[in-house]
Amino acid sequence: MTDFSSHLASFCKTFNQKLPELFPLPAGAERRVVEAMFYSLSNGGKRLRPFLVCETAALFGIAPEKSFITAAALECLHTYSLIHDDLPAIDNDDLRRGKPTCHKQFDEATAILAGDGLLTYAFELVCGSQNPFPAETQSRLCSLLADAAGAFGGMVAGQTLDLLSEHDAAAAPQDIITRIEEMKTGRLLRFACEAGAVLGQAGAAEYQALTTYARKIGTAFQIVDDILDVEGSPELMGKTLGKDAQQGKLTFVSLYGLAQARRIAENLIDEALQALSVFDGRAAVLGELARFILNRRS
Ligand code: IPE
Ligand code: IPE
Ligand code: MG
Ligand code: MG
Ligand code: MG
Repeated sequence: MTDFSSHLASFCKTFNQKLPELFPLPAGAERRVVEAMFYSLSNGGKRLRPFLVCETAALFGIAPEKSFITAAALECLHTYSLIHDDLPAIDNDDLRRGKPTCHKQFDEATAILAGDGLLTYAFELVCGSQNPFPAETQSRLCSLLADAAGAFGGMVAGQTLDLLSEHDAAAAPQDIITRIEEMKTGRLLRFACEAGAVLGQAGAAEYQALTTYARKIGTAFQIVDDILDVEGSPELMGKTLGKDAQQGKLTFVSLYGLAQARRIAENLIDEALQALSVFDGRAAVLGELARFILNRRS
């Protein structure tokens, strides 16, 4: 194990140990939706987004325990996006994080509600008394999170374009694919960095550098996901592969082929690393994370 992967593994261990505290089960029959929420949330996952929140805030001396609630909120929101992405009406997947998807384990209506529950809970966490940061910081985080997740240039907008582009010979596919990848995946990863920067009260130049870094790794992350959909290991990925081609998705791979898509991802990671230069070596972990995104197998 490299230093970076043991650092990430130890983060995941602590994060996973603390998560159940946030999910007390209601006594009534409505506990079913909380069980479904926690089932999907606790079921594996690389935890890259919460890790990125904590590591970005740590650049400014914020202890990971202090960032935990913001990090957990983002993982809740990300998990909601996965539950809904897997629904029969969207990607229709049976496997996620190596286990049956939420609608397979429970049922479709419960999976829709579990997604709704996680989305709402993310905002409750950020703005609630468990978040140790002042109201002004919480409010800034809420507004950034809503923007990243929503329909006006956020994840929901990206998912919509992703669906509209299925089996569609679009007029300008290069422009559309860049917008899809930036929004459907890039925005939540960007929020992770923005949140860390807000928690750490980053200065303008640092904030700008982190946003640039996040934009680059966000798009690269989805390109690598698209590459792994073709040549990854189903066991390591924990989901059914080959789906993008089967569903006629517009991806960097469908447009440029595997080799060129990989080169584009490599260039983005190089640019992400350059953006970190303002930190004079203090952002080495973020550099490692960028490389991890490029070389990941899961
Ligand atoms: C999967 O994200 C969905 C995409 C944005 C491609 P991850 O690959 O980060 O999934 P988990 O959280 O590790 O399961
Ligand atoms: C989904 O992209 C991104 C989300 C917003 C959830 P994909 O549909 O490619 O993600 P996977 O491959 O199912 O994880
Ligand atoms: Mg999808
Ligand atoms: Mg999918
Ligand atoms: Mg995919």
